[in-house]
Amino acid sequence: MWKPFCALGLLAGLVRAFDLDGYVANMTLEEKVGQVLVPDFRNWQNATASGATGFTVMNDEVAGIIKKFKFGGVILFAENVVETEQTTRLMADFQAASPNIPLILCIDQEGGIVRRLATGTNFPGNMGLGATRSTSMAQGVGKVIGEELGVLGININLAPVSDVNYNPANPVIGVRSFGSDQHLVADMAVAYKNGVQEAGVASCAKHFPGHGDTNTDSHTGLPLINHTVAQHQKDLYPFRQLIANNIDMIMTAHIQIPAFSNDTAPNIIDGTPTILPATLSRKILTSLLREQLGFKGVTITDALDMAAIQEFFGWQNATWMCLAAGADIALMPPRATSMSTVSNLENAFNTVLEAVNDGRINITELDQKVKRILNLKMTYKIWQPDTQVTPISLDKQIKKALNTVGNKEHRRFEAKVADAAVTLLRNNHQTLPFKVDKRSTVAAFTPFSYQLDAVNVSMSSMRSTKYVKLIGTYFYQQNFTSAMKTLVDQATHVIIGSYIVVQDAAVNGGVLDPSLNDASHWDSVTPFKIMEYARAQSKPTVIMSLRNPYDASSYLDAGNQSADALVVLYDYLGYKSGIMQGPMIPAGLRYIFGELKQANGKLPVDVYKLGTNNTQILFPFGYSAQ
Ligand SMILES: *[C@@H]1O[C@H](CO)[C@@H](O)[C@H](O)[C@H]1NC(C)=O
Ligand SMILES: *[C@@H]1O[C@H](CO)[C@@H](O)[C@H](O)[C@H]1NC(C)=O
Ligand SMILES: *[C@@H]1O[C@H](CO)[C@@H](O)[C@H](O)[C@H]1NC(C)=O
Ligand SMILES: *[C@@H]1O[C@H](CO)[C@@H](O)[C@H](O)[C@H]1NC(C)=O
Ligand SMILES: *[C@@H]1O[C@H](CO)[C@@H](O)[C@H](O)[C@H]1NC(C)=O
Ligand SMILES: *[C@@H]1O[C@H](CO)[C@@H](O)[C@H](O)[C@H]1NC(C)=O
Ligand SMILES: *[C@@H]1O[C@H](CO)[C@@H](O)[C@H](O)[C@H]1NC(C)=O
Ligand SMILES: *[C@@H]1O[C@H](CO)[C@@H](O)[C@H](O)[C@H]1NC(C)=O
Ligand SMILES: *[C@@H]1O[C@H](CO)[C@@H](O)[C@H](O)[C@H]1NC(C)=O
Ligand SMILES: *[C@@H]1O[C@H](CO)[C@@H](O)[C@H](O)[C@H]1NC(C)=O
Repeated sequence: MWKPFCALGLLAGLVRAFDLDGYVANMTLEEKVGQVLVPDFRNWQNATASGATGFTVMNDEVAGIIKKFKFGGVILFAENVVETEQTTRLMADFQAASPNIPLILCIDQEGGIVRRLATGTNFPGNMGLGATRSTSMAQGVGKVIGEELGVLGININLAPVSDVNYNPANPVIGVRSFGSDQHLVADMAVAYKNGVQEAGVASCAKHFPGHGDTNTDSHTGLPLINHTVAQHQKDLYPFRQLIANNIDMIMTAHIQIPAFSNDTAPNIIDGTPTILPATLSRKILTSLLREQLGFKGVTITDALDMAAIQEFFGWQNATWMCLAAGADIALMPPRATSMSTVSNLENAFNTVLEAVNDGRINITELDQKVKRILNLKMTYKIWQPDTQVTPISLDKQIKKALNTVGNKEHRRFEAKVADAAVTLLRNNHQTLPFKVDKRSTVAAFTPFSYQLDAVNVSMSSMRSTKYVKLIGTYFYQQNFTSAMKTLVDQATHVIIGSYIVVQDAAVNGGVLDPSLNDASHWDSVTPFKIMEYARAQSKPTVIMSLRNPYDASSYLDAGNQSADALVVLYDYLGYKSGIMQGPMIPAGLRYIFGELKQANGKLPVDVYKLGTNNTQILFPFGYSAQ
């Protein structure tokens, strides 16, 4: 197998002539503590402003904080990376604030629904990639994302999500996963990370030891996965493969997993002993990840401000607890958003310092963490302590970035991958492709207005639909109304978008109960009723699944007849602020109107029949009606 990283690894070997041990031995304790902390400066309020706003341009305050604490890095959010030139300047200014050891600048540029660059190439996301079954596309996607980050000065991509999504009720991973099969996930994740590394950017697999079987979102609660050790091997498999293939970093999950650790600490709500989530568990981060699985790279926590950590163990305590458990980097310790809240960062910093001084954090282990971090910085030439480097001028860098980020070639590849991801689950009576002409009227119904705008923009740019009349509306939090009926009445063809995060409508014998109060189940009952109304008039109708492919199970009626046509797109992004935010709605429409001849995507998960507790498969893994 082709391993693009070998050459880099060899070079890195030469660089290692540098005396890292001696260097670290010379660092002060404060410098070491700085390296293991990676905060965000997502919003900032300066002395003259009235509120915190997106931090896009460096100022003396933030530069001063970075100089003072000598942080190991900074994590970027959408608020920081709004425009190519602005981002390039901000990254250069971040580095200028850290002259001795340059910063890790990391970001969640997964592709699909989680990506931060406003001007970058977006791609279909992992589950869409899973549907293509193409590791070469996954590698290509990783490489393009890596190139776009690298040219901006961002040196670590916090991707790929390597969780195996086999719980349809998972509210937070879903389409961020490559699928429900551990081998597919592992193959795609390794290919994706090879691509990122090939572009000279480091890659971070998440969320160890597996976030695929949760039905709680750790942003809002503390999930528990009560598997046996044997059951959990499915979740571990992709991580094992990634470790064997030299993944640079691994991010921890804020999930309790009793199979690996029953260790507890009193929670801060009522003092009850509470099982430590992986992020704070030494059994998971040290015994399992380092000793059993042999991971030698850098471990980073998921954001410590998430509810699973903050509400149960406290943000500040968690900052030393995760490091004592075995994490190398504490991500997003208590946040500062102005000079008046810098004390938050100061407290987090001092908490770690004290924990080292009183032995809660082992000083030898702290040195090992710092060495792993500096090693990574040298491998990716973020830091070249023994090389005379002539940096390229900022103007040249900006020019290069403008020519790279979201360029035509990358967009063409994005469309190609999107086309390959489109998955057809039903096409009864040859409903598709829609045969339209100037006299046709297409009614489109989507959950959100920006998706209707995407349909509109796509249809007006396609040869076959340019002159077709489009009517329609969006149904976010709306009942099936008489106005919607009128639109269907006027149409010759009907397109319905579906967006069901977790199916919560009551089901009756395996199908949606249409007598439900549809306002509180607008996401499932309203599109179902539109479909039924259009079918009663025998109008060609297609369901476009815009988020989880599990939606497909909602469009069965009592006679076991599904939607006549069902196309799965794995991505709900639409057209917003003058930009097509995601490539999947355009790709879906290309297929629906026959400009794309084949829908070659294959289902990357099992879709179960409603009301069967995931025991009866409706559309199996690998299925396509093409
Ligand atoms: C450590 O510091 C000593 C004394 O300043 C210096 O001689 C030595 O070169 C330093 N070692 C490294 C590896 O930087
Ligand atoms: C403070 O923030 C305001 C509003 O964002 C901005 O207009 C002003 O230039 C900033 N001042 C400094 C000194 O950065
Ligand atoms: C996990 O499941 C076992 C039985 O399968 C049960 O005895 C145990 O209480 C569960 N643990 C938690 C923390 O829910
Ligand atoms: C944790 O406790 C459960 C019983 O609740 C047990 O099955 C499991 O083996 C324990 N885990 C460890 C790592 O000891
Ligand atoms: C930190 O943990 C200690 C016990 O280990 C507890 O007494 C203290 O209240 C915690 N502090 C915060 C801010 O959560
Ligand atoms: C600190 O860690 C080192 C390296 O793992 C180990 O040899 C040493 O025993 C530890 N010290 C303590 C006090 O646990
Ligand atoms: C499509 O876009 C055009 C031009 O912006 C607008 O006039 C029309 O109302 C839109 N149609 C729908 C159904 O949103
Ligand atoms: C939606 O329909 C339900 C009955 O199905 C009704 O109780 C509710 O008032 C309707 N809501 C709106 C906003 O029309
Ligand atoms: C509906 O379809 C499922 C599988 O797709 C099948 O098991 C079941 O028997 C069917 N039910 C009826 C009433 O046809
Ligand atoms: C589904 O599983 C849950 C929990 O395991 C159980 O309470 C429920 O009765 C099951 N429902 C059906 C229809 O089997």
